[in-house]
Amino acid sequence: MADRLMAEGLTFRQGDLRDPAAWASVASLLADIFGIDVTPLDQMGGPDPSSMAFSWFAADGQLAANLSAFALPMMIDGRTVNAAGLQSGAVRPEFRTRGLFRDVTEKALDWCDAQGFEAVLLYTEKPALYEQHGFAILPQSRFVAEATTTGQTTPQVHPLNLRKSDDLTLVTKMLATRKPVSGRFAVARQNEMFLLNALLSENVRLGYLKPHDAIIVWRDAMDGSFELLDIVAPEIPRLDDILETLGKSLSRLVIDFPPDLLGCDFTATPDNDPLVLMMRSALVPFPEAAIRLPEMAHF
Ligand SMILES: CC(C)(COP(=O)(O)OP(=O)(O)OC[C@H]1O[C@@H](n2cnc3c(N)ncnc32)[C@H](O)[C@@H]1OP(=O)(O)O)[C@@H](O)C(=O)NCCC(=O)NCCS
Repeated sequence: MADRLMAEGLTFRQGDLRDPAAWASVASLLADIFGIDVTPLDQMGGPDPSSMAFSWFAADGQLAANLSAFALPMMIDGRTVNAAGLQSGAVRPEFRTRGLFRDVTEKALDWCDAQGFEAVLLYTEKPALYEQHGFAILPQSRFVAEATTTGQTTPQVHPLNLRKSDDLTLVTKMLATRKPVSGRFAVARQNEMFLLNALLSENVRLGYLKPHDAIIVWRDAMDGSFELLDIVAPEIPRLDDILETLGKSLSRLVIDFPPDLLGCDFTATPDNDPLVLMMRSALVPFPEAAIRLPEMAHF
């Protein structure tokens, strides 16, 4: 297989994304195939230093096919799991159906196994691509929580803007010591994607709640509803305390992660989003209760 691809003028490289040339070629592939600009990360500390790219390059030096793996420590059912994530999987149209993606997937998974990762996770709209490599869909749910706030307190929230260096410093510092936002299922560390998602997602607001030493990420939807997207804090505050400090009077709200640490009643309903989360692991059982990874953790 590799011999055939090399005979076609293609060259395989495995490389750390701290290398500026490797990062630039992956960024260009993502812009061309998905229309996503990941270069704002250059102003926010750079790409995840744990990232490893598995790439085939064309004779003219263009990146033809790529899949990147990165360390994604997770909290799953109360246990810290040494997991990896796969992202940036794409093949340029003129190089498709030659087996390039199968090849980089096999290489990335061999590397993950050799590194001792207990599980590998990915997002996709094409689960069939990965089922043949041992991945299965982790069904996600949507959560609605009940709140009992008065809304009569004065808001004590300091708005944060990631384009301001002081605010970026605070967010980066707090990401380094955050507690997973759920004991059921949550990322334990994943700073770079948080920063990129918080910057690029629409209508996302970030605020620091001093009384709780917590960064809250939320969205005020057009219909007046409120969506709690993430919490970055050394200890997760209770939902009612968060809402009081934000000055919000609400009885129901959408929570973008399992609210098991928020001290509130909640319901979970299955999510039918075509973008699915998949996991491959011989060691880690799939979580039994309803789960979700928040938008801020998408990768
Ligand atoms: C999907 C994509 C990565 C496939 O790349 P490719 O190099 O043409 O794939 P390969 O030739 O290595 O084929 C790998 C296998 O996947 C299968 N496959 C290819 N495209 C597929 C698709 N859209 N859905 C399901 N399976 C697919 C092939 O049949 C093949 O199976 P086989 O090995 O059993 O024959 C490529 O079309 C692409 O970049 N698409 C746009 C971006 C994208 O969707 N990326 C995946 C993000 S999760």
